[in-house]
Amino acid sequence: MQIIVHLGPRSYPIILQNNALGSFPARLGKLFPESKIALVANTTLARLYGPLLALWKKELRFDFLAIPDGEKYKTVDTWNLVVDFLLRKGLDRKSVVVAFGGGVVGDIVGFAASAFLRGIACVQIPTTLLAMVDSSVGGKTGVNHPLGKNLIGAFHQPSLVWMDSAFLKTLPRREFVAGYAELFKYAFVGGRSMFDFVNTHHDRMMAGDHTALLEGIRRSVAIKAAVVASDEKEVSGKRALLNFGHTFAHAIERALGFKGVLHGEAVLFGMRCACDLGMRAGTVPDASRKVYAALLEKVPRAPIGALPDAHVLYGAMFTDKKISGGKLHFVLPAKPGESVVVNDVAEKQVLETLRAVMNLK
Ligand SMILES: NC(=O)c1ccc[n+]([C@@H]2O[C@H](COP(=O)([O-])OP(=O)(O)OC[C@H]3O[C@@H](n4cnc5c(N)ncnc54)[C@H](O)[C@@H]3O)[C@@H](O)[C@H]2O)c1
Repeated sequence: MQIIVHLGPRSYPIILQNNALGSFPARLGKLFPESKIALVANTTLARLYGPLLALWKKELRFDFLAIPDGEKYKTVDTWNLVVDFLLRKGLDRKSVVVAFGGGVVGDIVGFAASAFLRGIACVQIPTTLLAMVDSSVGGKTGVNHPLGKNLIGAFHQPSLVWMDSAFLKTLPRREFVAGYAELFKYAFVGGRSMFDFVNTHHDRMMAGDHTALLEGIRRSVAIKAAVVASDEKEVSGKRALLNFGHTFAHAIERALGFKGVLHGEAVLFGMRCACDLGMRAGTVPDASRKVYAALLEKVPRAPIGALPDAHVLYGAMFTDKKISGGKLHFVLPAKPGESVVVNDVAEKQVLETLRAVMNLK
């Protein structure tokens, strides 16, 4: 299967498949027949997929770098390690760098590609569910700063996104569920057909049924590709809809000091909060209330640490980097499959939501 992200001269294909891992060298070789290639993974993936990477290397003769695994290494230092490697291996402006891993590897390597020699080609091979349905598509790259996440980065569209759901077989369950949060999110912003698909296939996807999952990934990627094509650099507001559940999620993550909670786990709570708030703020039509309640009932709740009082969490929302003009912007559900951005939700309603959904004082 192939989906094109339409961005004029920066358009690129996203390849989706199941269990065709051996086909990557031919695909890359066709796209970059003369180029020098570097492939960057992390140490965990280098271990798990060593034999596969060795097979690919025989055909593609790439230079290989494994960076340390973990969000805490998503830093300028690791970015520098990648750039240093590309320089030492003699890559030039016609070269291509392949990011093999989850969102962390993809973001760091994409950012290195954006800056190396003022920008070289990058290919994304997402190996987590989150990276497949979200981070590998759209060209946002970057690293964290001690003052906040993803504060340093660039828009740099990949030349190819190549994904295979076979990688999900080795993904730890907790990471799978966290990634599923981002797929689930598209049910609220991707139109009625995505809402119905998720509603009907939720159990099968959660059970790891590859046919259902591949279709869920395909639909998610198609939705993200269309949004990116219409708002590449997040200026028109369309891309902001993809932040469904994220205003709450970011506050939860910050309140917990980014410890003991995965981003997707916070997003699952955030989506519950967004639905609850949508009902209070009146964006959800009466006729749809039951449908939302039934869908949310199925969503797993991760055990998370103790959160502060509702008003403290509310205050934490104002430190979000996506805030503008001192106002909170909530993406709230409307009809099934559609959401709206609301800028003037009353504090009282947000506090009521936090108390009801997160069980806070
Ligand atoms: N650029 C974007 O648009 C965008 C969007 C959403 C999130 N992100 C970023 O993505 C990052 C999170 O990505 P993530 O959830 O993929 O986390 P991650 O990259 O840290 O991967 C999670 C864990 O799974 C391991 N792993 C990866 N693939 C595996 C596989 N197939 N089998 C076994 N283990 C595997 C990794 O080594 C890691 O330990 C965050 O830094 C976030 O800011 C970026």
